[in-house]
Amino acid sequence: MNKLFLTFKPRFYTILTLFLLLAINSKAQDYFIKKSFATAAPLYDNLLKTTEGNFKDYPHALHPDGTLKYLQIDEWTGGFWPGILWYMYEFTKEEKWLKHAEAWTNSLESNQYNTAHHDIGFMMYCSYGNAIRFNPNPKYQDILIQSAKSLLKRYSPTVGSIQSWNKRKSKGNINTWEYPVIMDNMMNLELLFYASKVTGDTIYKHVAIKHAEQTMKNHIRADNSTYHVVNYDPQTGKVLHQQTLQGFSDNSTWARGQAWGIYGFTSTYRETKDQRFLNTAIALADFFIQHPNLPKDKIPYWDFNVGQAGYKPDWNFNPQQYQPTPKDASAAAITSSALLELSTFVKGEKAKRYKNTALKMLKSLSSEAYLNTDNANPYFLLKHSTGNLPSNNEVDVPLIYADYYFLEALLRYKRLTAQ
Ligand code: GLY
Repeated sequence: MNKLFLTFKPRFYTILTLFLLLAINSKAQDYFIKKSFATAAPLYDNLLKTTEGNFKDYPHALHPDGTLKYLQIDEWTGGFWPGILWYMYEFTKEEKWLKHAEAWTNSLESNQYNTAHHDIGFMMYCSYGNAIRFNPNPKYQDILIQSAKSLLKRYSPTVGSIQSWNKRKSKGNINTWEYPVIMDNMMNLELLFYASKVTGDTIYKHVAIKHAEQTMKNHIRADNSTYHVVNYDPQTGKVLHQQTLQGFSDNSTWARGQAWGIYGFTSTYRETKDQRFLNTAIALADFFIQHPNLPKDKIPYWDFNVGQAGYKPDWNFNPQQYQPTPKDASAAAITSSALLELSTFVKGEKAKRYKNTALKMLKSLSSEAYLNTDNANPYFLLKHSTGNLPSNNEVDVPLIYADYYFLEALLRYKRLTAQ
């Protein structure tokens, strides 16, 4: 009896230690998630207070003097604030967040008819698209279907793409964009896939697929980096220009543009199971995560090619003005969320690589360097994003969509590691 016990004892203790280590490790694994949501709660309480009963001013960023910058209902970021409130509810299950999430979602109702630009997908799918996961209210469904109909109005079968912006001048007034389509537009396609699913009408899905095909053809370079803007001839569908608005130069890779591409092609693959879209998502992801200029903490600079030889900006770049080169935490938040989903569509080493890289990004974002644990501002969770540096607009500031995709990625990571 004693002899038997002695034989088993060391093994017993080894197994116990392993279990303990695993338990500590899995606790530590989700510590950064809990810490991030706990840090977020008082900040969003403050944000809620600034807009109490208003439902007109949508938190967007901070002005250089540290005051809050709001955008109005018709601008592209209105859906992120309600979306954040849905994610707070999803994580905490606290009624308070549900109440605010519903109220802010409902405030966007009139946007279902917005045809002024392509951003209706961002505005309505990040708000109503989240709402409907928790509350299958037929009214929400109708609003999403009408939003998809509005988006279709910007589609031209001649071009095979949804027009992002109305006719405008390019950066530096070099030329005119008659029919500009931007990489970001890939993010609006989820709304169309949803509309086809719930109506049974394939028109929405058909347009989404055509748009993704054209983007694959005209926005992606041989090395799997991406152009931000492609301008088409609306009469013939011919590509006229491949340029940028928010990136460093026309031939550079704007970090958030690449991030939108990874996310957009991953979700398009989810909805179509078309291998071409998966291959594209993989190619864009590999470009991003293997890039020699991606810093060690995996949070990219705002563009991968800032100030490099062979990249000539169409704006007045002063290398001394922005030192050190600003990062874009929003691009990392979007990419981490996309990589987590992409990791579920591939196997073996690739799956591990995408999941581990996303984890590294999330750990960086939830460290003091990026997470607002030091009350750097009273409202936003993440610091150090860049909206539009070439226009000297929103440089190294918090941005509402960085918070949105960060929370989404944390929830995705939690789900992925829950089994
Ligand atoms: N879709 C606009 C941006 O990413 O800045």
